Amino acid sequence: MTVHTDYSLKELNTFGFDVRAKFFAAPETVEALEKLLSDNRYAHLPQLVLGGGSNILFCSDFNGLVIQPRITGIEKIEETAETVHLRVGAGVVWDDFVAYAVQHHWGGVENLSFIPGHVGASPVQNIGAYGMEVKHTIRQVECILKATGERKVFSAEECAFSYRDSIFKQAWRDRLIVTHVIFRLAKHPVLRTYYGYVEEELRKYPDVTLQTLRKAIIAIRRKKLPDPQILGNAGSFFKNPVVPKKLADELALKDPKMVIYPIDVNYVKLPAARLIEQAGWKGKCIGAVGVHDRQSLVIVHYGGGTGRDALALSTMIRQSVYEKFGIQLETEVNIVQ
Ligand code: EPU
Repeated sequence: MTVHTDYSLKELNTFGFDVRAKFFAAPETVEALEKLLSDNRYAHLPQLVLGGGSNILFCSDFNGLVIQPRITGIEKIEETAETVHLRVGAGVVWDDFVAYAVQHHWGGVENLSFIPGHVGASPVQNIGAYGMEVKHTIRQVECILKATGERKVFSAEECAFSYRDSIFKQAWRDRLIVTHVIFRLAKHPVLRTYYGYVEEELRKYPDVTLQTLRKAIIAIRRKKLPDPQILGNAGSFFKNPVVPKKLADELALKDPKMVIYPIDVNYVKLPAARLIEQAGWKGKCIGAVGVHDRQSLVIVHYGGGTGRDALALSTMIRQSVYEKFGIQLETEVNIVQ
C-alpha cells in the first residue's frame, strides 16, 4: 500500500478546504490497515482517521498521518424470518449501502438516504434524520485499536449511542479505527413517515414503499441542503441543543414558528436552525464563508476560504445565539485545529 507524502485533502473534505496531510494512506483491507499501524515510521506521529470527509473542518494542514479506510464489501452473515444481518466495510459509501438495502426491500436505514459520508462514520456520530437514528439498526461495530493493533468488537449497548454521540466520540475517541459495521435490517419494516414534511412529500407518489420513501427523502434533502459538489459544506454545523422545557416554552411564546422536540418531562430539544435564523444569520456571508440561505444550521464555503474563516464564523454565531437566547450551541462537525 502506498503512503503518500504532502497529500492534498481538498477533494477529501466536503467543505473543500485546501489543506494537506504530511502522510496519507487509504488501506483497502483490515490486513493492510494492521500493517500500516505497526509501521514504525508512522507510529510516533499524530494520526487522523477520515471517512467521507463530510463532517470535518480542517483549520490547518495535518502534520501527521491521515488514514482513510477504504474497506469495501457488503456481506450477508445471518438471516431469519424477520431480519437480515449485513457486515459492511467501513469504506462503503453510506448512501450506496442505503440504496442496496432498499433495493433488497430491507428496512431500517431508508430515512437516512442521501446522507453523505462512509459507513465507518455512521456509528461514531450515530447519524440520524427524519425520525430515524442508525443506532436502531446497528448490531455490532468491528474496530482495530490504534495502540496495540488488537481487534475489538463493540455490541450496540457498548457503543452507548445517544443523539449524535457514541462511545467512539467519548471514552474511545481517537483510539480506534472502525473497520466494519454489522447491521440488522427488517424484512417487513414499519415505515416511519410521520415526520411533518416527509408525509407531505410522499403524497406526490402513488404508494408508500421503501423505494418511494427513499425517493421522498432524497427530494427533501436536495431541496433543503446544499450539495457539497456545488457548494462546500459539512451538513449541520451545530447540534440541536437540549434545554430545560421551561426555557423552551418561554421562547415558543415569543416565536410561534419555534418547534419543540420532546425528550423527557424536564428537557426538550430545540432546532438550532431556528435560533440561528432568529439571531439574524440566515443567508449571511462573511468573505468566503456564510450561513446557508435555506438551512441556517449549515455553514457553507463559497471557495478560496480557509477552515479558520468557517471556525471564526461559527464562533460569532455561537456568541450571538448565546447573547439572544442564553443557549450554548455545541458543534456537530469535528474540528481539526
Ligand atoms: N428551521 C428554521 N430555519 C432554517 C431551517 C430550519 O427555522 O433555516 C426550522 C424548521 O422550520 C424546522 C426546524 O428548524 O421547524 C428543524 O429543521 P429541519 O427539519 O430541517 O431539521 P434540523 O433539526 O435543522 C436535523 C439534523 C439534520 C437532519 C434533519 C432532518 C441535527 C444537528 N441535524 O436538522 O442532519 O437532516 O434534522 O431530520 O440534528 C446533519 O447532521 O448534518 C444533518 C443535516
